[in-house]
Amino acid sequence: MLKTKRTFIRPIEPADAVQIFSYRSDAGANKYQGWIPKSLEEVDAFIAKNQADFNTPDTWFQLVIIEKESQKIIGDIGVHFLHDGSQSEIGCTINKVFQNKGFATEALSAIIEYLFTTLKKHRIVASIDPKNTNSISLVKRLGFRKEAHHIQSLFINGEWVDDVIYAILNDEWQ
Ligand SMILES: CC(C)(COP(=O)(O)OP(=O)(O)OC[C@H]1O[C@@H](n2cnc3c(N)ncnc32)[C@H](O)[C@@H]1OP(=O)(O)O)[C@@H](O)C(=O)NCCC(=O)NCCS
Repeated sequence: MLKTKRTFIRPIEPADAVQIFSYRSDAGANKYQGWIPKSLEEVDAFIAKNQADFNTPDTWFQLVIIEKESQKIIGDIGVHFLHDGSQSEIGCTINKVFQNKGFATEALSAIIEYLFTTLKKHRIVASIDPKNTNSISLVKRLGFRKEAHHIQSLFINGEWVDDVIYAILNDEWQ
């Protein structure tokens, strides 16, 4: 488990399903996300497939962000460990009630610090819909650089959408 000033970050657990469903099922708030669960069972399945180990190549690992004050789950972070063992991809979803309060920046900073300092990753990337301005502001605030803009490269929620790639190297993280 990681601690930040206002949060705890820990692996997702089966008992988290109801809280995860409450904000992940919000199709409006999550319109740029590939996964919007329609039932609690979908969330159960999502949790069940989480890996036992944090740092297994070719897998995603899901974590939840818990606000210390309320002890509630306020969002989640996915870490994709790429096949080469040296690079990771990250994604983050915050319950809209808790957005714009700095929680995403605070929690992702702790995860990035762990990936670079403890796991010695070389590079971290984020793949974002260019219309998702909140997400782009978030990664820029964390020091990521824009590296690419792919045109209609992902099929999400029934349509082809663009994808921008932001990245940061271990050397660039302070
Ligand atoms: C992308 C997402 C996680 C970004 O979350 P967020 O709430 O905007 O990010 P933060 O909590 O770090 O908020 C940052 C803002 O809070 C402000 N803020 C308010 N109080 C703050 C505090 N105490 N500390 C730090 N920042 C604070 C910051 O100034 C900043 O605003 P600015 O951009 O105008 O400078 C969120 O929009 C989301 O969950 N979207 C839906 C899911 C999604 O699309 N995810 C992306 C998939 S790639």
